[in-house]
Amino acid sequence: AASVRELLLSRIRDVPDYPKPGVVFKDITPLLADPAAFTALTDFFAELCVEHGATKIAGLEARGFILAAPVAVRAGIGFVPVRKAGKLPGATLGQAYELEYGTAEIEIHAEDLSADDRVMVIDDVLATGGTAGASLELIRRAGAQVAGVAVLMELGFLPGRARLETVLRDAPLEALITV
Ligand code: PRP
Ligand code: MG
Repeated sequence: AASVRELLLSRIRDVPDYPKPGVVFKDITPLLADPAAFTALTDFFAELCVEHGATKIAGLEARGFILAAPVAVRAGIGFVPVRKAGKLPGATLGQAYELEYGTAEIEIHAEDLSADDRVMVIDDVLATGGTAGASLELIRRAGAQVAGVAVLMELGFLPGRARLETVLRDAPLEALITV
């Protein structure tokens, strides 16, 4: 696992002053372009899903979609998209959350989850925890259980983990890399 982490870390590129001055953007496109790294990440996430008894994977638009969909195929379980508001055609549940400036809203198709489902949320980055936290609310409001949250990177200098604590309840938050 240590060597997998090193490989993944080596394929994440720091882009200074993007999207604005003073911010260092963590760019995962080199990791996606490297089949060994992308496969290692997919396998790692798939093992976590099995370990935590997940029956569905929720991917968070947009970067979470890229990481979560191959995990669902690898683990042999279903994929549920959590989309930015206004993109899903069916009956949706919506959850607003706080951004640095203002609010955002994400949605899920309520019919995609049932009471028997244990859902693993997958995303690239945990920053403030707003997006992941809102997705957990949606899963619970859809009547399903939370298997956990798995992210490639946790930004350790932000209070995302603390913010998620109450909404996670006893579910695990797994971060492959803390930066
Ligand atoms: C980014 C990132 C996470 C989220 C983390 O998504 O991919 O989903 O922010 O931030 P938080 O923990 O503070 O909520 P964003 O919506 O910016 O872009 P994307 O559509 O490219 O995934
Ligand atoms: Mg995102």
